[in-house]
Amino acid sequence: MLLQGKTAFITGASRGIGESIALAFAREGADIVVHYYAHKSDPEKNLRAEAETLAAKIRDMGRKAYLCGFDIGDREMVDAEIKKLLVEVTPNILINNAGITADNLAMRMKPEEWERVININLSGSFWVTQALMRPLMKNAGCIVNIASVIGQMGNIGQANYAASKAGLIGMTKSLARELASKKVRVNAIAPGFIETAMTHAMTDEARKGLMDIIPLKETGKPEDIANAALFLSSDMARYITGEVLKVNGGMYM
Ligand SMILES: NC(=O)c1ccc[n+]([C@@H]2O[C@H](COP(=O)([O-])OP(=O)(O)OC[C@H]3O[C@@H](n4cnc5c(N)ncnc54)[C@H](O)[C@@H]3O)[C@@H](O)[C@H]2O)c1
Repeated sequence: MLLQGKTAFITGASRGIGESIALAFAREGADIVVHYYAHKSDPEKNLRAEAETLAAKIRDMGRKAYLCGFDIGDREMVDAEIKKLLVEVTPNILINNAGITADNLAMRMKPEEWERVININLSGSFWVTQALMRPLMKNAGCIVNIASVIGQMGNIGQANYAASKAGLIGMTKSLARELASKKVRVNAIAPGFIETAMTHAMTDEARKGLMDIIPLKETGKPEDIANAALFLSSDMARYITGEVLKVNGGMYM
């Protein structure tokens, strides 16, 4: 078991890549904090039901599962909910996975499309990291940020998303330097084209355009990202920090 005795906090864990990481980590012995989207004032919008289903699967595997809900773009909510959680449990792995897209050509991009993506993908990951930094430093923990191939190569209609993910890569390298003296390793994964709700929303034309530039000629699965996150979070990667691991079928080298 690669993560026996560890507790992993995974943002946006209730579906897609986050869910896959949660299940892979639990299989390797970790207890899991399942973070899900929760609206500040409207419980109707919460994704708690999905998170509870995942928590039940984790408990069936013999691990502990904790639930933690907040809107990652709302700094006050992030701080308040993580403070409550820390009374109960001390995570030693953080996976910043939650993210969104709001695509538009730069000429037409609305200020709210720009701000929402930067706020959730980049600032939100930083708020969560700050709120969990003390326990991670006390435990020689580790952080894995889920960036994107788009943050490395750019893409038409995704200036906001590319900027947020490139920012996340810069943040990863800075934190890797800053936290190394506390033995906290900080790495990123840059997934390519992975089959999840996020990519199912793409047009057939956009999908074909991407497939044309993937040398392995197939899309990735959430499990491909989970395997990379497992490696980076385990002692097998004990000497790796500040790295950006591409998991993209060769799409960008
Ligand atoms: N699917 C891909 O091809 C791909 C490629 C590169 C990177 N990524 C990245 O992987 C991560 C996971 O994406 P996915 O493909 O599983 O998509 P997804 O849409 O299935 O999952 C995104 C998760 O983030 C959560 N989330 C979104 N906004 C939130 C908010 N404001 N507060 C709290 N939680 C919020 C969602 O509830 C969901 O659980 C994202 O950061 C995404 O940018 C995905």
